[in-house]
Amino acid sequence: TVTIKRLFQPIYQKTEHTGNKVTVVGVGQVGMAAVFSMLTQGVTNNIALVDVMEDKLRGEMMDLQHGAAFMKSCKIQASKDYSISAGSKICVVTAGVRQREGESRLDLVQRNTDILKIIIPQLVKYSPDAVFIIASNPVDILTYVTWRISGLPKHRVIGSGTNLDSARFRYLLSEKLGIAPTSCHGYIIGEHGDTSVPIWSGVNIAGVRLSDLNSKIGSEEDSEQWRQMHEKVVKSAYEVIKLKGYTSWAIGLSLSQLVWAILSDASSVHPVSTYIKGMHGIEQDVFLSLPCALGHRGISDVILQTLTDKELTQLRKSAKLMAQIQAGIKF
Ligand code: NAI
Ligand code: LAC
Repeated sequence: TVTIKRLFQPIYQKTEHTGNKVTVVGVGQVGMAAVFSMLTQGVTNNIALVDVMEDKLRGEMMDLQHGAAFMKSCKIQASKDYSISAGSKICVVTAGVRQREGESRLDLVQRNTDILKIIIPQLVKYSPDAVFIIASNPVDILTYVTWRISGLPKHRVIGSGTNLDSARFRYLLSEKLGIAPTSCHGYIIGEHGDTSVPIWSGVNIAGVRLSDLNSKIGSEEDSEQWRQMHEKVVKSAYEVIKLKGYTSWAIGLSLSQLVWAILSDASSVHPVSTYIKGMHGIEQDVFLSLPCALGHRGISDVILQTLTDKELTQLRKSAKLMAQIQAGIKF
């Protein structure tokens, strides 16, 4: 228009700059909680949203765009066409069905595998160099599925894994001890969910290991019954799903933290689902969570914790279960 022509003296032709672009597939409860965390925490200012529900997709995009004036400069695009995702540094997959009350994560496996078969090749086509973070459940198995379908190197396929379970554990520790969760150190490894393994031998505050103060901690024989804390972590998702229908805020924040670590090449350590064959005596082609250092190319290192015999047995049992379920998947 004449007004615009009189307003500007163009200096160079603007072209798309993808910068720290993150694509999120699935604009449901988990996807949108992750996007909101990333935008408000300044983790990325360039988001592409993909989903199959066109109205919901457009509605979420518009609602976020209307908030742009309250955030630092941000670009939010959405389309059911995957070309919108082109040039992403990270693709986060939160699409798929969730558990209904009474269902376990593992009950979702074939339904969500079928959805990933559509999504993953499209993402790889438009962002062949991206790091992939999978959140859809059962997350460890779907991370394996993504790795198989995508043909990507294992350091670039990451499951959100027990970063969430560990955060729940640290929250419960903080409540019991009256110390901030950020100062309560402890890892839950293995499967995200029902067979996760709490590493009691490493739980510490300021380097003081609780297992040095109570050698029975976490075991059946512990008179203080600390193991109930892990049982509570395992039950937490079921409890929240029963109360509000889904879980969203904590997983959204967890995903935002993982995206931050990768985009900023932080080398920070997080328990995430990774290919663990050959570690801790695991012989199967499975993905389970271990503490991993995250950098701009994905997982740079896995931290090999000193595990007790009991912890190793539990981890190997999870690996066996994952492999059994994987053997039944139709690709
Ligand atoms: P939701 O039902 O709110 O959203 C799922 C979205 O996926 C919907 O918008 C749907 O249209 C979309 N979708 C379905 N098929 C698609 C396809 N082919 N292409 C693109 N989009 C598609 O579900 P919610 O609550 O967001 O959960 C999503 C997944 O995340 C579930 O599998 C759930 O179990 C999992 N989850 C994982 C957590 C973790 O710690 N890893 C924590 C919480 C949930
Ligand atoms: C969680 C989901 C359901 O919140 O995996 O743990």
